[in-house]
Amino acid sequence: MRFAHHFLVVWILIWPGLLWSGLPEHARGTGEYAHDWQPDPMHEYWDPGRYHQPETGPVEGMFTGAECVECHTALTPGIVKDWRASRHARVDPPVQCPACHGEDHQKLTFPTPQTCGTCHPQRLAQMEEEKKYGFPSHALAMERVVDSKQFADKPKAETLSCLQCHSVATKCDSCHTRHRFDPAEARRPEACITCHSGPPHPDDEAYFSSPHGMRHTKDHKTWDWNKPLRPGNYPVPGCAYCHMRHGNHQVADKGVWKFGIRQINPGTAENRIKRKRWFETCADCHPPDVAFNFFRDLDRERTRAWARLYAVERLLKELRSDGLLRPAAKDRPPDKLDLLARWWPRARIGFYEGQASAFYNVGDIERDYFEMWYFSNTGAFKGMAHGAVTMSQRFHDRLRVEEEAITQRAQRLRDLGTIMRDGEVEPLWTRGTYTRFNQERN
Ligand code: HEC
Ligand code: HEC
Ligand code: HEC
Ligand code: HEC
Ligand code: HEC
Ligand code: HEC
Ligand code: HEC
Ligand code: HEC
Repeated sequence: MRFAHHFLVVWILIWPGLLWSGLPEHARGTGEYAHDWQPDPMHEYWDPGRYHQPETGPVEGMFTGAECVECHTALTPGIVKDWRASRHARVDPPVQCPACHGEDHQKLTFPTPQTCGTCHPQRLAQMEEEKKYGFPSHALAMERVVDSKQFADKPKAETLSCLQCHSVATKCDSCHTRHRFDPAEARRPEACITCHSGPPHPDDEAYFSSPHGMRHTKDHKTWDWNKPLRPGNYPVPGCAYCHMRHGNHQVADKGVWKFGIRQINPGTAENRIKRKRWFETCADCHPPDVAFNFFRDLDRERTRAWARLYAVERLLKELRSDGLLRPAAKDRPPDKLDLLARWWPRARIGFYEGQASAFYNVGDIERDYFEMWYFSNTGAFKGMAHGAVTMSQRFHDRLRVEEEAITQRAQRLRDLGTIMRDGEVEPLWTRGTYTRFNQERN
C-alpha cells in the first residue's frame, strides 16, 4: 500500500518532468519566457547558433572548397560571384565555403559570430565587450528582444520582424552582408539605417537632417569608401565613423543617454569617461569648444524633456493612487506572462515600473503617456544628439501639445470620478460586453 502510494507520487511527478525534458531543444524558445513561445522555422536564419537545422537534401558527402564552388556556380551563381569578389576568395589560402558552412553536406552549418571569431578574434571580442555597458547594445540585442513581453506574447509570424533587426547580435553579416563581406558597404550610413529607423529610433532622419548628414548627401558619391574610418579619410562622419571609432566593433562605450527613455546623470565618473571618448571623436575635425558646447546643449535639452515627462508621470501616479485610472488595472484582461500582475494588478507608470513592456492592454491616458515618452521624447533626443536642432524642436513641440492633452484628459477623469462617487453613472468599461468578452478570452 505504502509502496503504491510512493509510486503514485513519483508517477505524478515524473510525467510533467518527462514532458518538459522530452521536448526537443529546438521546439522551445530561449530566455526568460522560453516556455511561452516556440521558434518559427525562419529562426534558423536569424539565430543560427541556437536554431539552425541542417538541410537533409539530396546531396550527400564531404566536399572540398573547390567542389563546393564548382557545383554552386551552377546552382547559386549569385553567391559564388559575391564570394569571388570578396577578400575571402583572394587571400592565400582562400577562405572557402567549408570555413563557414562545414564540409559535410548533410550537416551544413550557418556561421555564428563565434565562427567568424575563430579568424577575427579581435572584432568578436570588441563586440562582446559591449555587454559590460548593458542595454542597449548589439551584443545583447537578441536577449533583449526575446526577453520582452511584446515578443513572447504575440504570434511568431508577427514577432519575427523583430529579429530582422535584433539578429545583429547573432550573426556578423548585418553591416557587411554575405557573401561580399565588404567593409566599404559597412562604413556607409545606409548599412545602419536598415535597422536604425522608425519611430522609437529615428536615427536616419536625425542624421540626414544634421549638418553632417546634409553634407554627406551632397558629396558622398565622390568619397572613396574603401578607405578605413580614420581621421583625414572622410570630410564629415557617417554613423560608423562616430559610433565605431577607428573601426572598433563596439557601439556601447560612448553612449551616456543610451536609448533616451530614462533620465541619466551625465556627471558620474563613468559617464565622464564616456564623454571624453566623444570629445576625442569630435576632435578629429573640430576645436574642443564645439564638442563642449554641443554636449552641454544636449544635456540641457534632456533636462527640458524630463521636466515635462516627470510632470505627466506625477499626474498619472496621482490618478492611480486616487483610483481614477480607467479602466483600472484589475479590470483589464489578465496578463498571461506576469504572475505578479495577476495577484497585484497595478498600472505601471514610467521606466522603473516597466511601462515599456506594458504598452498594450492599458487605458487611454497611459497609452497617451507612452506615446509621448517612447516616441516624441526619443525623437527629440535623437535629433539633438545628432545636431538636427530643428527636428528636435519639432518633437519638443509635440511633447508640449501632448502634455496639454493629457492634462485635460486627467481633469476629465477627475470630474467623472466625482460624478461616479455620487452614484450617478455606471462604470460601463468594467461591465460592458466587450470587456467581458476580453476577460473571458484572454
Ligand atoms: C553536387 C552539388 C553540390 C555540391 C558539391 C555542394 N552543394 Fe551545397 N547545395 C547543393 C544543392 C542541390 C543544394 C540545395 C538542396 C540541399 O540543401 O541539399 C545545396 C544547398 C547548400 C546550402 C544551403 C543550405 C540551407 O540550409 O539553406 C549551403 C550553405 C551549401 N549548399 C553549402 C555547400 C558547401 C559548403 C559545399 C562544400 C562543402 C557544398 N554546398 C557543396 C548542391 C551542392
Ligand atoms: C565567411 C563566411 C562565409 C563563406 C566563406 C561562405 N558563406 Fe555562405 N553564408 C554565410 C552567411 C553568414 C550566410 C547567412 C546565414 C544566415 O542567414 O544565418 C550564408 C548563407 C549561405 C547560403 C544560404 C543562402 C540563403 O539565403 O538561404 C548558401 C547556399 C551559401 N551560403 C553558400 C555558400 C557557398 C557556395 C560558399 C562558397 C562559394 C559560401 N557560402 C561561402 C557565410 C559564408
Ligand atoms: C578561416 C578564417 C576566416 C573565417 C572563418 C572568416 N574570415 Fe573574414 N577574413 C579572413 C581573412 C584571412 C581575411 C583577410 C584579412 C586581411 O586582409 O588582412 C578576411 C577578411 C574579412 C573582411 C575584410 C574584407 C575586405 O574586403 O577587406 C571582413 C569584413 C570579414 N573577413 C568578415 C568575416 C565575417 C563576417 C566572417 C563570418 C561570417 C568571417 N569573416 C569569417 C579569414 C576568415
Ligand atoms: C541588423 C540591424 C542593425 C544594424 C545593421 C545596425 N544596428 Fe545598431 N542596433 C540594433 C539594435 C536592435 C540595437 C538595440 C539592441 C538592444 O535592444 O539592446 C542597436 C543598438 C545600437 C546602438 C546603441 C548602443 C547604446 O549603448 O545605446 C548604437 C550606437 C548602434 N546600434 C549603432 C549602429 C551603427 C553605427 C550601425 C552601422 C554601422 C548599426 N548600429 C547597425 C540593430 C542594428
Ligand atoms: C527596424 C529595426 C527594429 C525592429 C523591427 C525592432 N527593433 Fe527593437 N530596437 C531597434 C533599435 C535600433 C534599438 C535601439 C535604439 C537605440 O538605442 O536608440 C531597439 C531597441 C529595443 C529595445 C531596447 C529598449 C531598452 O529599454 O533598452 C527593446 C526591448 C526592443 N527594441 C524590442 C523590440 C521588439 C519586441 C520588437 C518586435 C516587436 C522590436 N524591438 C523590433 C531596432 C528594431
Ligand atoms: C554595426 C555594423 C557591423 C557589425 C555588426 C559588424 N561589423 Fe565588421 N565592420 C564594420 C565596419 C564599419 C567596418 C569598417 C571598419 C574600418 O573602416 O575601420 C568593418 C570591418 C570589418 C573587418 C575588416 C577590417 C578590419 O578592420 O578588421 C572585419 C574582419 C570585420 N569587420 C569582422 C566582423 C565580425 C567578425 C563581426 C561579428 C562579430 C562584425 N564584423 C560585425 C561594421 C560592422
Ligand atoms: C557626429 C557623430 C555622430 C554621427 C555621425 C552619428 N551619431 Fe549617433 N550619436 C552621436 C551622439 C553624440 C549621440 C549621443 C550620445 C550619448 O547619449 O551620450 C548619439 C546617439 C545615438 C544612438 C543612441 C545610443 C547612444 O549612444 O546614445 C544611436 C542608436 C545612434 N546614435 C545611432 C546613429 C546612427 C544609426 C547614425 C547614422 C544614421 C548616427 N548615430 C550618426 C553621434 C553621432
Ligand atoms: C570627420 C570630421 C568630423 C567629425 C569627426 C565631426 N564633425 Fe562636425 N562637422 C564637420 C564638418 C566638415 C562640418 C561642416 C558641415 C557643412 O555644413 O558642410 C561639421 C559641422 C558640425 C556642426 C555644425 C556647426 C558648424 O560648426 O558648422 C556641429 C555642431 C558639429 N559639426 C558638431 C560635431 C560634434 C559634436 C562631433 C562629435 C560628436 C562632430 N561634429 C564630429 C566634420 C566633422
